[in-house]
Amino acid sequence: MHTGTTLTQFIIEDQRKIAGASGDFTALLNDIVTAIKTISNEVNRGALIGVMGALDTQNVQGETQKKLDVITNEIMISNNEWAGHLAGMASEEMDDVYSIPKQYPLGKYLLVFDPLDGSSNVDINISVGTIFSILRAPTAGQAASMSDFLQPGTKQVCAGYALYGSSTMLVLTTGNGVNGFTLDRNIGEFVLTHPGMKIPEDTREFAINASNQRFWEAPIQRYVSECLAGTTGPRGRDFNMRWVASMVAEVHRILTRGGIFMYPRDTRDPSKPGRLRLMYEASPMSFIVEQAGGLSITGHERILGVVPESLHQRVPVILGSKNEVEIVQKYH
Ligand code: AHG
Ligand code: MN
Ligand code: MN
Ligand code: MN
Repeated sequence: MHTGTTLTQFIIEDQRKIAGASGDFTALLNDIVTAIKTISNEVNRGALIGVMGALDTQNVQGETQKKLDVITNEIMISNNEWAGHLAGMASEEMDDVYSIPKQYPLGKYLLVFDPLDGSSNVDINISVGTIFSILRAPTAGQAASMSDFLQPGTKQVCAGYALYGSSTMLVLTTGNGVNGFTLDRNIGEFVLTHPGMKIPEDTREFAINASNQRFWEAPIQRYVSECLAGTTGPRGRDFNMRWVASMVAEVHRILTRGGIFMYPRDTRDPSKPGRLRLMYEASPMSFIVEQAGGLSITGHERILGVVPESLHQRVPVILGSKNEVEIVQKYH
C-alpha cells in the first residue's frame, strides 16, 4: 500500500523547483517536525508523565508559565540548535534572542516561535498548538543580533503551525499556497491530507473574547453588534460565535470552514496595542491566512507589512474570510 505524500517528500519536491536550493531549508524543517512530534507526544501523554500544571515563574510578558510552556520551548531549542541551519532563535518564552551555543555551526536562517499556543487550555485537555516563522539571517554564518530579527512578515521564508487536537496536524506555507498534513502515529510521519487549503470568502461565524467588550473601540463595537443583530439587523443574517482561546485552533477552524477571528486593540492598557504578539503569533498566522486567500489586518493596515520594533511587540489582529475582514477594515 502506498503511504501517501509525506511531508518530507512534499518539501523535497517543493524545494526542487527553486534554483540553487541547498537542502538547508529542507533539513531545518525536518528538525522542526521532529520537535513537533516530540511536543505532540508530551501534550498527548499529559498527566501520565507529570507535565500538567503551572510553575511559579513568569515570562517576559508577565504571564505565569505552565510547565509545558517551558518544556516545549526546550524541545524546540534542543532539536533546532545543533544542525547548523540557524543563526539564532527567539521565542515567546525567552526574554532575549537565543544564541546558538559555540560548539555548533551557524547557518543562514532565523527561527521564531510560540512553543505552546493556548497554554491556558492545556490543563483542561483542549486543543493547543505550536506556531513558527522562518526568516533569512541578514548575515549567514554569523550570530544573529536582536535587530536581525526585526523583519516584517512579508520577509518570511516559511510559516507554520502544529495543532495538537483530536489529531495532530501541521499546516504550512512557503509562499506557494497552504498545505495541511496529519500525523500518522502508526508510521510516525506527517502525511498530506489537506492540499491547497482555501478560506471561504464569506462566513456567518465570528470569534472574539466578548468579555473585553467594554474596552473595544468603535469599529469593533459596530461590527460585532451588527453580527449579533442577526436577520433583523443591517447584515440581514444570523451569525454564530466561537472562542477556543487557542489562536491555532481558531485559525485552523477558519482555514477549514471560514470565519473571522479578532483580538483587536482595546482601551484597557494603552501600552498594549492588542494581546497577540507580532513576530510569533500574528505574522506567521497572517502569512498562512493570506496564502489561503484570506486577509489579516490590524484594523488599519496589513499585518504582514508591520515592521517590528521589538521581539515581543503586540499587535491588534483581525483575520479570516476576505469579505468580512474587508467590512471591519471599512469601519476603521
Ligand atoms: P499563549 O498561550 O501562547 O500565551 O497565547 C494565548 C493567546 C492566543 O492563543 C489566544 O487567542 C488568546 O491568547 C486567548 O486570550 P484570552 O485569554 O483573552 O481568551
Ligand atoms: Mn503565553
Ligand atoms: Mn500564543
Ligand atoms: Mn505560547
